[in-house]
Amino acid sequence: MTAPLGARLDTLKTESTATLKQVKDAAQLEQWRITYLGRQGAVPKLLKEIKHLSLAEKRVIGKRGNTLRQKLEKFYEQKRQKLGPMTTTTSTPSSTSTTTALPPEPITGHLHPLTLAIRRIQQIFSAMGFLIVEGVEIEEARYNFDQLNIPFEHPARAETDTFYLENKGNAKDLVLRTHTSPVQLRAVLENNLTPPFKILSPGRVFRAERTDATHETTFYQFEGLVVKDGASVSDFKGTIETFYEAFFGKRVSARLRPSYFPFVEPGFEVDLSCVFCRQAGCRICKNTGWIEVMGAGMVHPNVLRNMNINPQEHQGYAFGGVVDRLPMLRLGIDDIRLFWSGDIRFLKQFS
Ligand code: FA5
Repeated sequence: MTAPLGARLDTLKTESTATLKQVKDAAQLEQWRITYLGRQGAVPKLLKEIKHLSLAEKRVIGKRGNTLRQKLEKFYEQKRQKLGPMTTTTSTPSSTSTTTALPPEPITGHLHPLTLAIRRIQQIFSAMGFLIVEGVEIEEARYNFDQLNIPFEHPARAETDTFYLENKGNAKDLVLRTHTSPVQLRAVLENNLTPPFKILSPGRVFRAERTDATHETTFYQFEGLVVKDGASVSDFKGTIETFYEAFFGKRVSARLRPSYFPFVEPGFEVDLSCVFCRQAGCRICKNTGWIEVMGAGMVHPNVLRNMNINPQEHQGYAFGGVVDRLPMLRLGIDDIRLFWSGDIRFLKQFS
C-alpha cells in the first residue's frame, strides 16, 4: 500500500535536502535537479497526485507541496551560485581532461521606461472614457500648421524649427511633426467623429532644438481633445488633475498660466505642483514648487470648423502634455537625454 501523500512529502523533503548536501559539483547538481525538480522529477510527480485528494486535503497538502518545491528551487539556486558556472569534464584517450564553461545565463530584456509611461498614460485615460487614437510621425504641413491656425509666415514654420522632408511652401509639404496636435484634425476627419467625443493620442515629436537636461530633439507628447456641449476650463482642470494624481499616485494640483497657441483661445501653460518636494522648493522644480508639463486651451473656432464641427453648437478643450518629463519625475531621472542614449546601464535600472 502506498503511504499517504503528506507522509511521502515529508520523506521527499528529508531525502532531497540530504542528497543536496552531498552534491560536490555542477554535474551532480544538474542530476539532482532532474531527479527532484525536472519535468518528470519526484516533486512535480507528487504534486500531480494532489488532484485526487478531497478539497480540504488539497488545500493543506497543496500548500505544503508548493512550499517544498519553492524551497528546493531556492536551495538549488544557492548551491548553483556556490559551485559557480557549470563545467563538463571529458576524458580524452591521453587521460587529460578539458573543461568547457557553459555560456552565461541569457540577459532578459524589458520595456523602455518611456514605453511603460505611455502605457500607463493610455490606461488612465482609457479608464476616463477617452478613445486612444494614433497619428503619423511624418505629417503634412496643413495638419501640423495651416489648419491649426499657424499660417505660412508664422515663426514656428521657419525651417530651423523643424525637419522638413519636402518643403515647397505648400500645404502638402512633409514634416516630422513638431507636436501631436495635428492628430486632433486627422483623427476627427478620418474617423468622422461627431461630438460628444474624447480622444487621446500619445506619440513621438521632433524639433530642431538645442538639447539640455529637459529638452530633446525627439520626445513624446500625449494629445487630448474633448468636444462636447459645455466643455469648460474647469472641466479641463479637473480632468488633468485626475490624470496626474493617478499617474503619480499622489495628490497634485494644476496651475494654469495664460499663454498663446494659435489653435486655442484662451490658451495656457499648465504647471503641476512639484511631486518631489510638495512645493517646499527643490532642484527639480527650481525652487518654484511648480513644474511645466503641458500646453492647453479651449479649441479655437477656426480649428473646430476645420474639423467640420460648428463652433456655435459645440465647445472643446485640447491639451498637449510631455511624456518624457513624467517618468523623469516619477523615477528621479535628471537628464532627458538619457532616454535616447542607448546606455544599457541606465536602462537596466527600470525593469
Ligand atoms: C505644444 O506642443 C502644443 N501643441 C500643446 C498644446 C496642445 C497647446 C493643445 C494647446 C492645445 P509646447 O511646445 O509648449 O506646446 O509643448 C508642450 C510641452 O512639451 C511643454 O509644456 C514642455 O513640457 C514639453 N516640451 C517642449 N519642448 C520640449 C523639448 N524639446 N523636449 C522635451 N519636452 C519639451
